[in-house]
Amino acid sequence: MTDAAPFDARYVSLLWAGPEHAAEIARLHGELFSPAWSEESVKALLDHPASTAFMAMVGGAPKTCVGFVLAQLAADEAEILTIGVAKDWQRKGIGRRLVEGVARAAQRAEAKKLYLEVAADNDAAMELYRRAGFLGTGLRRGYYARPGGAAVDAVTFALKL
Ligand SMILES: CC(C)(COP(=O)(O)OP(=O)(O)OC[C@H]1O[C@@H](n2cnc3c(N)ncnc32)[C@H](O)[C@@H]1OP(=O)(O)O)[C@@H](O)C(=O)NCCC(=O)NCCS
Repeated sequence: MTDAAPFDARYVSLLWAGPEHAAEIARLHGELFSPAWSEESVKALLDHPASTAFMAMVGGAPKTCVGFVLAQLAADEAEILTIGVAKDWQRKGIGRRLVEGVARAAQRAEAKKLYLEVAADNDAAMELYRRAGFLGTGLRRGYYARPGGAAVDAVTFALKL
């Protein structure tokens, strides 16, 4: 018996996401975040002229969406608004592909910096960003409310493009 070959994130395709993908992205967002963003709010973000967003697709026809990143571009700055990878597909390099994809798109649009903020207790995301070259720029105390728990700080990061 032979083990299956390890999954290679190079075979994930990144698909530009638009408002027509709002339902798919909102569904996956709901599995990963609480509170979830409604389909309408995701659609509004994707419909915005400044939107730069990708879905990570795997498999044959039809492909399945296993990750997303939503960003916005304004003047020479870009910001990642949210990113997520389906639980069963995490730790396979897909988050890194999404960050790299959005960074490349922002760079091509002549953005000079890519910003984001992350909850200080989100070790996976903090490590993903650090490994992608982001540097911490500040702290927003008590930024994220946690139902039934203490608020959590937000750490702000920036990547020079
Ligand atoms: C954060 C998230 C997007 C990472 O996606 P992913 O596809 O699992 O990340 P990758 O496999 O590309 O990981 C890249 C690197 O990030 C770091 N990393 C990712 N997950 C990690 C974890 N659970 N613990 C520690 N480091 C982690 C590692 O350095 C990893 O490289 P390695 O596997 O070679 O060690 C994913 O965990 C997720 O969707 N979490 C829930 C939603 C969320 O918190 N989003 C971020 C909000 S700011």
